[in-house]
Amino acid sequence: MLNFSFANPTKIHFGEQQIALIKSEIPTDAKVLVTYGGGSIKKNGIYEQVSNALSEHTWFEFAGIEPNPSYQTCMKAVALVKEKQIDYILAVGGGSVIDGSKFIAAAANYEGEPWDILAKGGEIKSAISLGVVLTLPATGSESNTFSVVSNLDSHDKLPFASPFVQPQFAVLDPAVTYSLPKRQVANGIVDAFVHTMEQYLTYDVDAKLQDRFAEGILMTLLEEGPKAFSEPDNYKVRANIMWSATMALNGLIGAGVPQDWSTHMLGHEMTAVYGLDHAQTLAIVLPRMMAEQKETKRGKILQYAQRVLGLDISDEDAAIEQAIAATEAFFHSVNMPTRLSDYNLGEEVADKIVKQLERHGMTALGEREQVTLEKSRAVLLASV
Ligand code: NZQ
Ligand code: ZN
Repeated sequence: MLNFSFANPTKIHFGEQQIALIKSEIPTDAKVLVTYGGGSIKKNGIYEQVSNALSEHTWFEFAGIEPNPSYQTCMKAVALVKEKQIDYILAVGGGSVIDGSKFIAAAANYEGEPWDILAKGGEIKSAISLGVVLTLPATGSESNTFSVVSNLDSHDKLPFASPFVQPQFAVLDPAVTYSLPKRQVANGIVDAFVHTMEQYLTYDVDAKLQDRFAEGILMTLLEEGPKAFSEPDNYKVRANIMWSATMALNGLIGAGVPQDWSTHMLGHEMTAVYGLDHAQTLAIVLPRMMAEQKETKRGKILQYAQRVLGLDISDEDAAIEQAIAATEAFFHSVNMPTRLSDYNLGEEVADKIVKQLERHGMTALGEREQVTLEKSRAVLLASV
């Protein structure tokens, strides 16, 4: 096992009607900014629950944080934070609202040009306190330090991380996910699955517990994912998916193990250039990345084949092919396309994305830094 430091300071309130608890989580004398997206929370009752919980607080709101949150939109919220002297941000939404709010929280206190946080790794020394009401289980952003923000002018989609933007608390009520459109249900399941794979499908470091945690998440998503479509009103299914997505990227399964993230880096560029949803890009890239990396990942793909998928691995090469095919079939089982051609895209994608990767210094990706630009190009060409 590799050395690691681990802390997850986000307090989770999980279950039905837990939104009411934000009342006691946010100091009563705080000036609160409630941030949200395009308005889904006004149709499904979440906005009302949040307003009721904040009835004794002074609060303002900022709407319109879009999917793949933009720097441009976030900076409008930063102006409001400064104008109203906000000292607590409550993000109510999916990964985009949470990520945007993390950036807002850091940018409001940042001395200098906030874009540098993303483009130049500018040091974050403090941030406004952040709490979350999660409405879409997918990213794990509700209890981690990461955020990804896009610049609409330059076609950049860049990540940053800081302990200062980790939410202090997050409310996870599985019932709020009933209103998700099917496309977003699929996005969430696939994103959580790929987060787990990026931290699991590398090479063995004898981290037995982390492996079994990861396998538990993968098996839960394999079992419950399709049920979110066949039994959309089943609370137990929604609850298991929601908790799996949080646990997939809250630091636990990634502690002390090598991590890959090559699929995500290609995916971010594809979203920046073509506007595909985050998880749509992952479902296209992962099966081909597994195939491209099948020799360096050999041991772990076989472990995944046997322990997660229950395959016979006596013929190792055949088992690896079957494991890759089963992964792609799982994505299809949750109504997620897996080919560039499903979005009317073709070979032209390879050149465009490789140029973006080069511009962002993504020339040696993966746990062994073996995914060169040529390999990324091969993955994309194989994904048509
Ligand atoms: O904007 P509203 O109207 O709320 O609608 C949203 C949005 O259109 C809708 N939605 C959310 N909850 C709903 C709902 N509709 C009905 N009922 C509900 N309960 O869903 C749409 C998509 O929301 P979004 O927040 O964009 O989705 P997701 O949670 O998948 O977040 C994706 C973003 O997170 C980043 C991605 O790159 C992408 O920008 N990620 C963040 C990570 C992190 N911070 O750790 C890691 C991930 O790998 C990922 O990169
Ligand atoms: Zn992701």
